[in-house]
Amino acid sequence: MCGIIGYVGREQALGGMLLEGLRRLEYRGYDSWGVAVGQNGTIKVAKQAGRIIATNPSLPDATIGFGHTRWATHGGVTDENAHPHVDCTGRFAVIHNGIIENFRKLRERLQQAGHTFVSETDSEVIAHLIEDAVGESQDPDAVVQGVRAVFNEIRGLNAFIVLDNHTRHLFAVKNVSPLVLGRSERGAFIASDALALVDHADEIHFVNDGQVAVIGQDQIQLFEQATGEPQVLDWQEMTLTAGDTGLNGFPHFMIKEISEQPDVLRRLVTDGIEPVRGLAELIRESYGTFLVGSGTSSYAALTGSYLFSRIARRHVNFTVGSEFKYQEHFLTERSLVVALSQSGETADVIEAVMAAKERGATIAALVNVPGSTLDRMADYSVHLNAGPEQCVLSTKAYVAKVAVLLLAAHILNGSEHAGREIIWQSVDGIEQLLSPIANDNLLTVSRSIVDHDHCYIIGRGLSYPTALESALKIKEVSYIHAEGFAGGELKHGVIALIDKGTPAIVFSPLDETRDDILSGAMEMKSRGALIIGVSPEHDEVFDLHIPVSDVGDGSPIVNVVPAQLLGYQLALMRDLDPDKPRNLAKSVTVK
Ligand code: G6P
Repeated sequence: MCGIIGYVGREQALGGMLLEGLRRLEYRGYDSWGVAVGQNGTIKVAKQAGRIIATNPSLPDATIGFGHTRWATHGGVTDENAHPHVDCTGRFAVIHNGIIENFRKLRERLQQAGHTFVSETDSEVIAHLIEDAVGESQDPDAVVQGVRAVFNEIRGLNAFIVLDNHTRHLFAVKNVSPLVLGRSERGAFIASDALALVDHADEIHFVNDGQVAVIGQDQIQLFEQATGEPQVLDWQEMTLTAGDTGLNGFPHFMIKEISEQPDVLRRLVTDGIEPVRGLAELIRESYGTFLVGSGTSSYAALTGSYLFSRIARRHVNFTVGSEFKYQEHFLTERSLVVALSQSGETADVIEAVMAAKERGATIAALVNVPGSTLDRMADYSVHLNAGPEQCVLSTKAYVAKVAVLLLAAHILNGSEHAGREIIWQSVDGIEQLLSPIANDNLLTVSRSIVDHDHCYIIGRGLSYPTALESALKIKEVSYIHAEGFAGGELKHGVIALIDKGTPAIVFSPLDETRDDILSGAMEMKSRGALIIGVSPEHDEVFDLHIPVSDVGDGSPIVNVVPAQLLGYQLALMRDLDPDKPRNLAKSVTVK
């Protein structure tokens, strides 16, 4: 959470680099934002609550600066609590990502020593701790020592950057929260995601946990935080381009990314099978496989547990990232934990992986961001190659994860060809849903939902996780309360919620769940629900029908797409920004 970008060079930092970079990082947090530049011996700061303004703030431009987009943890969403935070002397500015678990104690101690705090944040303690640690020294090495010492003092998973206006350097350190360094003729960069450095950096390097980066105009250095030992930088070519990061003619990233799904699947079956074969082999060899993920990734993982059971006759466990630590006790050195994460940065998933590693388990990752924390922690990675996902809601990465798991199940079963065939059919199925005719039909459905406060979604078997993911897609972007259930659970309580006209979406693929799910639909209809059937075939119980292709076990891949599109349309009808729903962040790097 929180987006970070910094620059030291010969060019003016503010407009073209910092603000543009922050706009690209807004998906990481958009409660508030701020920038600081170092000029003529003073640090100038502009920061405020709310989305990043379209025009540049009235700050002098400068050749050193950094910026931050915030997703609030400690302290309300106010101008004062926005980052950067400055020390008492005005020499150091600090931006921070994470939660300082012992900040109250540190704050009390600093206040007793005479420091003045102007915000309610945990982050501000870093500025004052650095001020004390460095003192009057003008030597960059002293600041490195200060950063190392302060990092030792703070508890939790954190990354912070210090702008020292005297030595004209940025100093960065991290533990789990991501940081990437960049360089080009224009100067030196640091950011929380390589996306922010597109068009600016030619080469990038991912900072490891427990490293301190020193970023100067002509040189970037790296030290081990614990010992101070210099570290070697491993520069890689920047492969992201402006084409990957732009809207490419679409009005929003959400619809752009939904529309990219057929291409994501095509890439997987044409170029991406080999790593999936490796994953299948790991599952074959393991004594117990556990799928773990959070949010949308958890629903992909749950879908996987159904797919492995159906296709490969293999029991694969599933746990939500934040619950893993309460269930980890069964892990052994022969266990395999498959962690699913679009960003590769979700703290709950990283924590689960750390726990699994401690127990000696092998870690496989399904991850969309190469070089991310999860990617680097895993013993084995399958890159989803879905391209950058910038809408806060995950769409194309979900479909990619489910497709990888479906293929892995087929490979385990010795039926790779059949698995590939299903993916090709799913490509056609999604393309049909993206057609203008399908769009008009979905608009009719959206109109029937838009004025309701609640919407219920049911599915059985493979469609149960699809119902959960569909509900998440609708609620997180339209703020309509949408809830997914296992069809059989209806009669155990949910049906009490059905009222006259309540929209109920029913997933009814042509599989063994069909008769039972249609009975459930009938029970809801008898109590006044408006039944919206997602099915290859119409049924008389449907008041509205969303036709989808019959793709067999690929139904979770295709059937989620109408829900993605409904969520998008509902957000637009309600005048909401589909790319940045309230209170959410794409990458939740705090617990
Ligand atoms: C956040 C996002 C969700 C996402 C979840 C897991 O909560 O708002 O859209 O599904 O994190 O993200 P990951 O990157 O681990 O898949």
